[in-house]
Order: sequence, then structure tokens, then C-alpha cells
Amino acid sequence: MKYVIILVLSLIIISSCDQKNKNSETSHGKWKSLSGDKRIEQRVDSVLKLMTLEEKIGQMTQFSANWSITGPVMSDDFKPYLYKGLIGSIFNATSVEGIRKLQQIAVDSTRLGIPILFGQDVIHGYKTIFPIPLGEACSWDLAMMEQTARIAAIEAASDGINWTFAPMVDISRDARWGRVMEGAGEDPYLGSRIAEARVKGFQGEGGWQSLSDVATLLACGKHFAAYGAAESGRDYNTAELSEHTLRNVYLPPYQAALEAGVGTFMASFNEVNGVPATASRWLLTDILRNEWGFRGFVVSDYTGINELVPHGVAKDEKQAAELAVNAGVDMDMTGATYIKYLSELVKEGKVSEKTIDNATRSILEMKFLLGLFDDPYRYLDENRAKANTEKPEFIETARKAVASSLVLLKNDNDLLPIKKDRAARIALIGPLMNDSVNLNGEWAGLGDRNKSVSILKGMTEAYKGTNVKLNYAQGCTITESSPASIAQAVSAARLSDVVLVAVGEDFNWSGEAACRSDIRLPEAQRQLLNALKETGKPIALIVLSGRPLDLSWEDSQFDAILQAWFPGREGGHGIADVISGEYNPSGRLVMSFPRNVGQIPIYYNHKNTGRPVDPAHPDVDYKSSFLDVSTTPLYPFGYGLSYTTYAISNAKIDKSTMKSKNDKITVSATVENTGPMDGEMVVQLYVRDLVGSVTRPVKELKGFRKVALKAGESKPITFELSSEDLAFYGIDMKKKTEPGEFKVWVAQHSADNSNELSFSVTE
Ligand code: BGC
Repeated sequence: MKYVIILVLSLIIISSCDQKNKNSETSHGKWKSLSGDKRIEQRVDSVLKLMTLEEKIGQMTQFSANWSITGPVMSDDFKPYLYKGLIGSIFNATSVEGIRKLQQIAVDSTRLGIPILFGQDVIHGYKTIFPIPLGEACSWDLAMMEQTARIAAIEAASDGINWTFAPMVDISRDARWGRVMEGAGEDPYLGSRIAEARVKGFQGEGGWQSLSDVATLLACGKHFAAYGAAESGRDYNTAELSEHTLRNVYLPPYQAALEAGVGTFMASFNEVNGVPATASRWLLTDILRNEWGFRGFVVSDYTGINELVPHGVAKDEKQAAELAVNAGVDMDMTGATYIKYLSELVKEGKVSEKTIDNATRSILEMKFLLGLFDDPYRYLDENRAKANTEKPEFIETARKAVASSLVLLKNDNDLLPIKKDRAARIALIGPLMNDSVNLNGEWAGLGDRNKSVSILKGMTEAYKGTNVKLNYAQGCTITESSPASIAQAVSAARLSDVVLVAVGEDFNWSGEAACRSDIRLPEAQRQLLNALKETGKPIALIVLSGRPLDLSWEDSQFDAILQAWFPGREGGHGIADVISGEYNPSGRLVMSFPRNVGQIPIYYNHKNTGRPVDPAHPDVDYKSSFLDVSTTPLYPFGYGLSYTTYAISNAKIDKSTMKSKNDKITVSATVENTGPMDGEMVVQLYVRDLVGSVTRPVKELKGFRKVALKAGESKPITFELSSEDLAFYGIDMKKKTEPGEFKVWVAQHSADNSNELSFSVTE
């Protein structure tokens, strides 16, 4: 057992290596460990001392086992490297048995027996699949999001995985981009809180100490940086944005992930202002390590290093490897550039061996923290894998997560809910009504798509034994309809009191490399909806999609719209809970829904411009407007209806001025459930900084609370707003709070101006 030898050696060497390892200065500065624990640092150094240059570079190399494919398949077979001890990490290998075989090779057949780190994209569940992250974010329920990440970690870690490439914390303002499904929407404040919740969910609450728990995963904040700013929402496209926008809008969630203890980051594919992130020393070293103090390691995104060649900043892959490693990419994912060229580059003096040492140290440290050096097989236990998969409580959480992520966008005449004690005939129609396969959405781990509960199944179970009669007709597929299929759906509708139509996208129309320039429902579905409309029956749409769609036409034609995202395994149950009123919808949008694709990018926290439109006089000329569509979104950020109604009153502020440093004000209000049903309201706190050294957004979210209120109940609510909460990067690119006048709103959504207060900040 080689790892025993190395373990013993590492312990013996600890005592003698202290002094000699003062030499860890590199081009990236002295190596600083994530743990800050001297004993672990010594163990890391003791292993490093035993390694050849080639073996160190091997640790900086990751290959895909290609058991599932998440990018272009590389020609390099990873096995020869594995037998030589030249691989630090493998991803896309799954199952205890499969991983054990690979780990055994690393441990028993290589010179030093250093264990492999196994990675996987565990994004919104491993086997128990939760709603897509964009959907879950609409719950505004941080504890729930932490919980679903924890469950995903338990399932995946029990199956032998050590490291997830999540959370994805990229801000996006463009619904055409397919990867919006994987993030938390358009807002830096909410995105930051969600980033923290997910990091804690995956890695555990106890900082780096929790990594040794066999029920946690090492997390990876991705994609650093501004991957979501792709021009025209086309994946991998250029991101061209000012440093102000980068720092004030795009960077905060990555920094929040870091402060929550995330152990790794992934460099993004895109360029930021002319430099691909993978080659950007400014992003990866100056900001991430030196400014923010990151102490873990950075992995490239897939072949991101090789792609520096087509980007046009490296003449060949060798130069690409040089640029990436010197920028601060510690591990090469699948590209094999490090293993092929780094030792030559070191010999040529283009890369310092100390840079290699530091990267290797960070990777080795993670293996120590995960306990892999103590026992490389500690995550590999078939019984634990079985016991920790799809447990009833995981499934129960998934069902709740579905219900709380749904957003009720329209509900005229209280068409919904359809209570179980009513006598009613419901026609269940649409391409996604009797569908399981699409429900999990993209990046759905190892979830069995056939196990997902269709809406038809969920509805049938919910109304079993009641006087509500269900009648199903598909009507059309996602992209095709025929006169006969439409006619069948129309007759089902005619025989009903209410029509529910499940419409939307195919699951692989969002996710990576899945962007759309037309985000309306496909023509076939609109034909079906038109025909159903003619029946004159009340119609509610259930929309399944991986992005905000253009629902302008649907909004103008139909009575109710429930946005259901891709809800995951428990989709049908959670949706039926909301339709039947067992659960009162509480989701609020985290991305603005455009009126048409031409409005994109559209987001609530935009700038005012010098010629803003006056909402009371939108037709005045020479304003920043469109001739053919309003400037407002169809549904704004923070918006969502409920089966009850809420009111906010009595908004107050405890003082009218605060200092620009170390001060705070308290904003309070009363929230009331003014309707007939218990529910949960998301109270949102927005501010506006009226004058700045650089232009400021018209509104910025600074706090929120999800409050449960019984019918008729009211509760006082308070928010503390500190001077630091108002800080931003101004004209001198330094983060601080500038004195001046501010407005503040306690609101139901970003376009709600009813409870407006003001205060000023003094020096
Ligand atoms: C994606 C990453 C993912 C990686 C590994 C890439 O193509 O951009 O988000 O983690 O593949 O599957």
C-alpha cells in the first residue's frame, strides 16, 4: 500500500522540513494554505519534497473518464498517465465500484501512490434531482437552497465523488443565454446570498474542517469571471464590460462564494475586455488571490487553456499552457497542455518551478483536507452509497423545493387554485403534461429521467377520490402539431370547466451551448393555444423552461400563467400541490421577463441615462425608449403573485442621516396578509443612491425576508442597512460609500414604489 508509505514518510519529514521550506516564494508570492494549519502545510511540503517535476505537473492535470460527456471529447487516453502517477484528478467517473478501480491504480501502481481527486458536475442534485438552480433561486429561501445542496453532496460523496463543479454564480441579464438555468439570475446581492448558501450546502458549515466529512463535497465557484456577460447571450462569446460593471455587478457573487469558504474556482471560457479569463493574471492572481485572499486552487474550464489558441492570444498550445499557469490556473481540465508542455517551459525558464510547487501544494492540501491521504478509499463504501441515495426525506425536500420555486405570473379571476373539495372537470393538455424526461432539465447529474413525476401523474394522485375529474389530451409535441391532435385537445377542453396546458421548452434548449435567439414558445404550441382559446374556456398555462421566455402574447390571451421552470424529479407532485392550493405559491422572479427579445438585456438595476422615459408620458420624443415596445419588462425582478394578497404599510426609518463609515439605519414596516389564505411573502428592500461619482443603478436590492403570514395576520419587519452595504466602486475604482441622498423602498417587487423613504449619508 503505497499511500501508507507516503503517509509515514510525510509524517517523518514534517519534523525536519520546517526550516527548509521557507523557500516557497514564487512568482505568485509565498504559498498560503487554505487551512492556515501549520501541520497540514508541513504534510503537504513533505509530500512535495518526494515528487519529481513531472509528478507535480501530473497533480496539475485532470482528465475526464468520459463516462459521461460534458464537452468536446479529447483524443488523449488518460490511462497511460494514470499508471505513471501523472494525474491529479479525474471527472465524469461515477459509482463506488468504478471509482475504486481508478483509485486503486493511482494508489497501488504508481511511484508515490498519491490518491486521485474525483470531480463531477453536481449542479442541482445527484440522483434526487431538484429544480434547476434558476428555479430554486426564485424561492428566495436560502435555508432550502443550502439543504438541497447538502443532499446533493450527501448522495454524490456517498457515491465516491469528492468535488463538485458548482455553484455556478454567474450573473446574467440575457435570457437567450442557455446557462441562465444554472445560475441565480440578474442580481448581485441575491446572487451573493445564494452563492454562500450553496457553498455551505456542498462543503458543510464548518469551513475547511467540514471537508473531511464523508458527506460533503469540495465546491467550485464558477465561471470566473463574467461568463454570463456573453454578448448576445451566445455561449462562450466575448464579454465586453467596464471595470465598474465587472466589480459592482458581476464579481460580488464570486467573492461571496470565496468568503463562504469555497475551496476552488473555475476560470471561465470567455474573454473579459480583450483577455481570456484563463490567461488573465489580473483576474486570477491580482484580484482573486491578492485582493480577495483566495487560498484554494483554480481549475480551467474544460479545454479553456487550449482555447487560448483560437482566441488568438497564444500561437500554440505550449504558449497557452505558459500563459494559463502564469496567470494562476493551477489545474488543466482535460486539455493535457500542462502534462505535455510545462516541464519544457520550466526548463526554458518561462515558468518557474516555484509556480508549479505552489499549484501542486494547493491541490495536495485539498487531498489532505478531504482525508484522501489518510484513506484514499474513505468515500468508497457501497453500503453508504445505497443507504444515502434517494432517501424518502430527500424526495420530500425535493417536492417542497418544487412548490416554493414556482412563480405565479398571472391569475385573473382567481382561476387558480382548483381546490380538491370542488366539483370540476379539468382538461389536462400540452406537450409537457405527460412528460417525465424533460422535467429534470439540463445538468441533472445521474438522476433517472424516467423516475420523474409527470404533471399528469402528480395531478392524478392529488385529485384521486375527489369530485374533480381529469381528462388528458396531448394536443401537440414540443415542436409539432397536427390538425387531429389539436382537434382532440379542443374536444377535451370543450368538455371541461377549466383547461390547464403544460407548455414550454425541451430540456436541452437550455444549459451549455444551448442558446436561443427566439425565446417564444414554438409555433406548434402557439397553434394549439390559439385553438384552445377559441373554446372560450378559462385557461391556465404551466410553463416549463430553462430561461425566462417571451410570454407577451400568452399574457395577453390567457387567464393564468404559472412559471414552473424545470422542476426536477418531484415536478408533478410540487406542481399539483400549487394547482390544488395545498401550497400557496411564494416564488418571486430572479430575472426580468422581457416583452420581446429586442429588449434584452433587460434588468431592474439599470442606469437612469440622461434621457430616461417618464412612465407618465412614455410617448415623449428623444427619450431612451423604443418606438415599438415599452422599456419596462413584462414581469419585473422580484415579482410573483400568491393566492392571497399582501400589503406593506407604516414604513419608517429610525434616523434620517448616517455616516459613511461604521454606521447603520433601521428600516421598518408592517407586512400584512390581507387575503383569504395563509402564505409566505418575500419582503424586499431596495435603495437608490441619487448622485455618485459614477452613475448609479435606479434601484439595488439590499435585503429581503421571506415571511410566513396567516390569513389576516400582520407582522412588523425590520432591516438594518449599514454604511458598508451602500459601498460601491466609484470613479477611483475604490470601494466606498459616498455621502449623498438616498431613497429606500420596502417593496413587494422591484417595480413597487409604494413605500418610499429617504435618508442621507454624511462624511
Ligand atoms: C462547463 C463547466 C463544467 C465542465 C465539466 C464545461 O464545458 O462549462 O461548467 O463544469 O464542462 O463538465
